[in-house]
Amino acid sequence: MGLPETAAELTTYIEGRFHARHREQLPELKSLSTKVEAVHAENPHVPAGLADLLADMIGELEVHMKKEELVLFPAIRQGHGAHMGHPIAAMRADHDDHLGTIRKIRSLTNDVTLPEHACGTWRRLYTGIGEFLADIEEHIRIENDILFQQFDRDMERMPGPYASSPCMAHELDDDGSPI
Ligand SMILES: [Fe+2]
Ligand SMILES: [Fe+2]
Repeated sequence: MGLPETAAELTTYIEGRFHARHREQLPELKSLSTKVEAVHAENPHVPAGLADLLADMIGELEVHMKKEELVLFPAIRQGHGAHMGHPIAAMRADHDDHLGTIRKIRSLTNDVTLPEHACGTWRRLYTGIGEFLADIEEHIRIENDILFQQFDRDMERMPGPYASSPCMAHELDDDGSPI
């Protein structure tokens, strides 16, 4: 299925497809991780600290999604996206923080690879972690590269206070080229 075409429709799609799903999924993953870490504490492959990382993620993500839902997305739906340069830059910076936590989750879980003879709870945990990581990476990509990007272009054309910010740190790809 293709993505909705307008920015307004895209914000509603993101809330339903990603925000709601993260909220539904993460508490269960945290409790599965707490169990796996306790029961398999002696196993060298145990993802020690994963439940704490997921708890941090739940907190960071909730604050971030609320900012999008209460401030940025309503402004975009009202047609003010091109005037939201600062909030958009703040959301991109939050995304960079989330990507840092995602890297830690991948490293703790050996890139979401189960050890041999993993129990059912560990399997459910890693299946869910794999889904969550795929969802959040897609969520961030759609916001950065599709939703926000169209307003970056609008802001470049606009003179005065809405011109794009001189701080391009969050608008550069890994190799330093503009996204
Ligand atoms: Fe979002
Ligand atoms: Fe976001």
